[in-house]
Formats: sequence, C-alpha cells, structure tokens
Amino acid sequence: MNQTNLHFLVSHAKHYGFIYPSSEIYGGISSIYDYGPYGIELKKNIQEYWWRSMIQLHDNIVGLDSSILMHTDVWKASGHIDKFNDLSIDNKDSNKRYSPEILIKESLLKNNPKNKKEILDILDKYLLNNKLDDIESLIKKLNICDPIYGSQNWTNIHLFNMMFKINETQGGFFLRPETAQGIFTNFINVKKSIRMKIPFGIAQVGKSFRNEIIARQFIFRMREFEQMELQFFISPKEEKKWYNYWKKLRLKWHLELNLGNNKYQMIEQKKLAHYASYGTDIKFNFPFGFKEIEGIHCRTDFDLRKHECFSNKKLRVFEQSKNNYIPYVIETSLGLDRILLAIYSSSLKLEKIPNGNNRIVLKIPYYLSPIQAAILPLVSKKGLPEIAKKIFNDLKIDHKLIYDAKTSIGKLYRRQDAIGTPICFTVDYDTINNNTVTMRDRDTMQQKRIPIASISHILREKISMTKILKKLLDISSNIGS
Ligand code: GAP
Repeated sequence: MNQTNLHFLVSHAKHYGFIYPSSEIYGGISSIYDYGPYGIELKKNIQEYWWRSMIQLHDNIVGLDSSILMHTDVWKASGHIDKFNDLSIDNKDSNKRYSPEILIKESLLKNNPKNKKEILDILDKYLLNNKLDDIESLIKKLNICDPIYGSQNWTNIHLFNMMFKINETQGGFFLRPETAQGIFTNFINVKKSIRMKIPFGIAQVGKSFRNEIIARQFIFRMREFEQMELQFFISPKEEKKWYNYWKKLRLKWHLELNLGNNKYQMIEQKKLAHYASYGTDIKFNFPFGFKEIEGIHCRTDFDLRKHECFSNKKLRVFEQSKNNYIPYVIETSLGLDRILLAIYSSSLKLEKIPNGNNRIVLKIPYYLSPIQAAILPLVSKKGLPEIAKKIFNDLKIDHKLIYDAKTSIGKLYRRQDAIGTPICFTVDYDTINNNTVTMRDRDTMQQKRIPIASISHILREKISMTKILKKLLDISSNIGS
C-alpha cells in the first residue's frame, strides 16, 4: 500500500466502521478521530496483546491506570512546561502555523532539487544543534511559500509548548502529554502496596494529548491519542543490560505480528528527549514511509529525582544495608493508534479471486480480528436462519461472533472478508440432516464441513492469543536479562 492507497484505507475505515472523523456532522476537526464498532474491537485486542505480554508474561510487572489531570507541579518537575517544545514558524499573511522541518521537507519532495540529500543532511544538523537562524535562512534560500496561501511573509522560528492547558481560572491544568508521569508519581505507592523489589515495572495504557503543529497522516499523528507505556525500575548499575533486553524484546513483540520483518528499522536516536540518556526508535514502514512507532528510552533517575526535589518526598529504594538510591528507569512507549495503523495498513488488500472478481480482504492476525467468526444461513428460508441463530446464541458468551442474514451468501462472505473475520460458518440444507456446517477460511477461501459441536474448539484453537504469547515467553527467556 502506498501514499495513494492511504485514501483507500481511510475510506475503508469509515465505510466498514473502524475509524470516523471526529464531530463529522459539524465538519470534523483536523487530526482527531473516533473509533467505530470494529475499530474499538481491534484496538482492544491489540491492547490485550500488549498488556498480557507485559503483565502476564513478567512476574515483576504490574498495571496502573492513573488520572489524565495531575497536579501542575508534576509538569514543572518533569520538565514538560519548560522543555516540551516544538519548533514552529507562522505565516503573517495566512496566520497559519507550520513546523519548519516539515515545511522544508515537503518543499524538497515537491521540487526534488538535485542536491536534495545534501540539503536534508544540513537540515538534520541544524535541527540537532538547534540552529534556528540557519533554518530560517534555509527557508528563505529555498523560496518556500505558505503551501496554501503562497506568501513568503514568515515570522522568526520560535518554540511552541505542546501541552494543552485547560481551566485557566483555577490555576490551570494540563492534559498529560505522556502517561509516564502518573507512573512516576505512583512509584512509592505501587512499590509499597504490591511489595515490589527492583527490578520491577509498571505498565499503563491511556490517553495522551499534544498540541501537534502538523497533525496529519490519518491516525499517525493526532492531538488526542493513546499510549501503551512501561516504566521499568532498575539499579543504575544495570542500565545497559536492561536497555538491551527491552530493545530486543520489543522488536520481537512487533515481529511476532508477522507484518513482515523488512517493515521495521531500529534507529538509535540522535536528538534525545530532555529526560533521556539513550533512546532508540522502532520505525515502521507506513504507507507514507518509515516512521517512528515506538520509543525505548533510558530515563536514568531524571524523573524520580526531579519529583523528589519538587515534592519533598523520598522516591528511593533501600537495600539490605543502609544504602538507598533512586532507581534508573528504562521506558518502552508504543502508540496504540500507530500500531493499529501499522497492522491495518499492512493487512488491507484488494485481491483478484478465482472467479475473476475483486475482493477487499483485511488479513489481520486472527487473534486480533474484531469478530472471531460469522454464523451465516445459506438462505433466509427452510428454517436455516433459526438453526444459525441458535448456534450463534449458544456460542456468543464464549466467542465474539456475528450473525448475519441480510443478503446473499456471496455478499455476506465479501463483507466478512472486508472486516477481517477469520472464519465463516454457514448453515445449509445438509445441516438439517447431519448437524454439520461449512467452515470457510478468510485467507485461503477454502471450505470444509465440520460438526456444529466442534465450532467452539476450532475457534479456541485458531483464534486464541495463547500461541503467540507462549512464543514471546520463550523468546524473553532466551534473551535473558
Ligand atoms: N513517554 C515517552 C514518550 O511519550 P514519545 O516518543 O514522545 O515518547 C511515544 O512518544 C510514542 O507515542 C511514539 O512512538 C508514538 O507511537 C506515540 N505518539 C507520540 N505522539 C503521537 C501523536 N501525536 N499521535 C499518535 N501517536 C503518538
């Protein structure tokens, strides 16, 4: 799938109930999206894969769900008020705000000058060293205009804080830009109440908010998004060991999704976040190229030390002797919306089928599919819908199923393919005589007869997450620590 096909994906997402533009009846809002009935099921399944791989597979990792709104001092201590900034430049005629980096990169993409690579290298250097004047000169030299209004009447480049501030009258709250701080502020609570000993981790999934200057590429960069973050507390002596462990394990977690090993890159970060001593990006080949999907950082004792200082509370661990220290932290931070986009964009196919027609098929891993199986009557007469409905009702407590009899069987199959349902069970005339149904596989489209009594067992075998989690458990033991 390439850039053009991103349009196909966006329209599929809306048409089949995965993702809708937010507030669409009022014209929508840029880069804010709602998840529809199948989108939320897919998202929950991906979250479950992450959650179980963290919490069930590691005896020393526990979960947390901290609040989005926190004490303002949290953000003073964490450095987000002072340092969580992006570069921006405004056009004085259009009053539009842009990211200088994206402005330059898009102009290079459009005009494709011979020395493009050279300019990109120079830009990287300027960005790395915060050479704002030089970036401004580059914009002038390249004659870059406002992409919509055509004007070159630019302000200076300035820093723009990415946190959303709300409720000015009561001193103000910030919407959290990362879930991590709720973990740091609960470090002592969790350590004491669950009697955790170093090394141990706290994982959480939740919403984060950033006032992105350029928010686009569908759900890749949004103002409201979800993160799945782990903060793993360690002895400072073991920083490198655990950094390497988490880098390897996180990459394996992605590879086990089977989206294609060549779709990933691991790149050591050159420009580190203000809290990090090392950082690695896992990049994924999205329809618009390789982009960051997950960050793995050594956060040293930066956050706990700052919170100690601002809160006057000890955030330390004590060893047998009288020694105490502030633990170091290895963080893994994955965007739930980005991993969903990675899975979605790699799995959506337009295929030619043997009868010469096309079919849209969403070949997502079976254990992530929004619906596990469809129960379909071949025709809407001769008692077949009643039998199909009974099978559906008998199994729906244990499995996420759908019953559909709204149209012909061919169209019903097409629809289930398009939403990624791995298996269809069809009730036909033979069912009346021998209690069997036709089982149809999404990917191969092959069909075979199976007894109704075996449906539940087949679903458990084919759709369960157990196999992939077992593999991941073996991998993590092999990586060792
Ligand atoms: N706590 C560390 C942290 O937040 P980050 O690299 O800024 O690090 C981590 O973000 C991950 O969160 C990214 O790799 C990405 O998957 C996701 N993410 C960040 N900003 C996002 C946005 N505006 N929209 C969607 N996902 C985003």
